[in-house]
Amino acid sequence: MRSFKRLKPYLKPHARRIAQACFVMVFVAIFNGAMVWLLKPVVDYVFIKKDPRMLVGIVLVIPIIFLTKMIFTYTQAYLMSYLGQIITQEIREDLFRHLHELSLEFFWRSRSGDILSRLTNDLTRVQDGIQFVPLYLVRDSLTVVILLIVMFFIHWQFALTALITIPFAAAVLAVLGKKLRSSSRKSQEIMGELYTRFQESLQGMLVVKAFNYESGAIARFQVENDALFNQMMRYFRATALSGPLMEFLGSLIMAAVIWQGGREILAFKMTPGAFFVFLGSFFAAYAPIKNISQLNAKLQMALASSDRIFQVLDEKPSIVDKPDALSFEALKSSIEFENVSFRYANQERWALKNVSFKIEAGQTIGVVGPSGSGKTTLVYLMLRLFDPSEGRILIDGKDLRDYFASSLRAKIGLVNQETVLFNDSVSTNVSLGNPHATREEIIEALKIADAYGFVNRLEHGLDAQLGDRGLKLSGGERQRLAIARSVLKKPSLLILDEATSNLDSASEKSVQTALERVSKNNTTLSIAHRLSSIKNADRILVFNHGDLAESGKHEELIALNGLYATLDRFQKISVEP
Ligand SMILES: Nc1ncnc2c1ncn2[C@@H]1O[C@H](COP(=O)(O)OP(=O)(O)OP(=O)(O)O)[C@@H](O)[C@H]1O
Ligand SMILES: [Mg+2]
Repeated sequence: MRSFKRLKPYLKPHARRIAQACFVMVFVAIFNGAMVWLLKPVVDYVFIKKDPRMLVGIVLVIPIIFLTKMIFTYTQAYLMSYLGQIITQEIREDLFRHLHELSLEFFWRSRSGDILSRLTNDLTRVQDGIQFVPLYLVRDSLTVVILLIVMFFIHWQFALTALITIPFAAAVLAVLGKKLRSSSRKSQEIMGELYTRFQESLQGMLVVKAFNYESGAIARFQVENDALFNQMMRYFRATALSGPLMEFLGSLIMAAVIWQGGREILAFKMTPGAFFVFLGSFFAAYAPIKNISQLNAKLQMALASSDRIFQVLDEKPSIVDKPDALSFEALKSSIEFENVSFRYANQERWALKNVSFKIEAGQTIGVVGPSGSGKTTLVYLMLRLFDPSEGRILIDGKDLRDYFASSLRAKIGLVNQETVLFNDSVSTNVSLGNPHATREEIIEALKIADAYGFVNRLEHGLDAQLGDRGLKLSGGERQRLAIARSVLKKPSLLILDEATSNLDSASEKSVQTALERVSKNNTTLSIAHRLSSIKNADRILVFNHGDLAESGKHEELIALNGLYATLDRFQKISVEP
């Protein structure tokens, strides 16, 4: 019931269509019931009384009835598929939209294969439910009721015999229903695992091949696949019995009815026509009853799947704008970290511990430190992908959380360690943060990033399509596109997280010069492993295990003879032959 309530907002806008569909279904049911009546005149007047006029009448009436029925059946099928499609289309869109509203934390917590499986597989089951449950519920139940009425009309004692089936059937369905739902939920969970494995292998095929991991990946996949098989078989053991069981019950009843009816006809208490209508009703009720016996299975599957979909839709973003938040326009005075500490969810270790520093607008700040010392985490906090666990970040004197996160991000240009390119043209990829940029602006940004040369050499230049995840480009080329993308945003704060790590020395030099040019009129935070690239920074922050260990200008830090000086010595040794 609760799951159904969740679906209601999606059904409501289509109430009229649903009503129309139900209305048509009522007619289909009536036709199904009416048709058995044709048996009576056929048997009693044509076969027994041998009336030729009746024969002509019936031959004329049959096509008309079936034509009308055909129109109704088609309309009903059309309406139901329409509803199934449109409602799932809306849910799919909401899901996609909602996923984009969720905070990064959600995606790090969940497996993408599982989310994908909910978007596809579970949605298909919901669609199936929307399409067939009302059909079975309205059309088939009503057909059965009408046929029962026909049977009662003809011979109520026989009809009562037939009615005995119903409580039996209900009992069988109730027992199976519970099993079905949990079984269906489990199979969908396993399906999520399968999708995850598929996705891992598809995305990581290079590593799979390079490390001969094929058999390992296949073995892991087999485990999940076998589990799915077992779960599905458990599911079918639960469902498959219901149909034949109903059939068997039906056959018993039919035997009883034929026994009774045969004796009545022999005693001339009933016309053969009436008996055939009765029998016809009984047979005609078979298909709808079979559907009704599957109703529960379809319903339980759809509800279990809709639960899984609503689980995602119910996720709340962990980063929420204040209702009276400010729009961030441009950095005017400073960015200040005030005793900021941060710990990732479910982690013991602090990624940042009591960090305080101040960046004046226009400065270029270098950030260095060993791997895992919290440099990238610093970036995440500035982008407000996470909120500090303790302390606060002030931008122009105001808490970062007082601004709309999107307005902040609009003014931050990020070039990070892993370049993400979308399956689209070069120009679309570059103008991601500034979709209204002109071609000239895009070209200028590409030139600044030292990317114009290679883009020009691509077959369609700016309009060249990048393959899946930008696979057609080298690491350095991708990174230069990412730099152009950030430059084009004309950001207030440029964040470079190992931005030149994938470039060869020649391109690094040229990009470095370009970036220095950009950062002249910009506030820049540059994270680097190679100290040479941040040597000229106004200030260098040295991180160690989440602590801000040292800070100052290059010369000051060398003079301090601490961690920075050590890192500097190491790099000099490794650079000098
Ligand atoms: N999503 C996450 N969940 C849990 N812990 C994380 C997550 N991301 C990073 N960490 C941990 O936080 C710490 C700081 O990581 P961070 O990525 O900020 O380091 P870094 O200084 O950028 O390192 P590198 O130079 O290798 O990029 C590390 O110990 C890391 O294991
Ligand atoms: Mg990092």
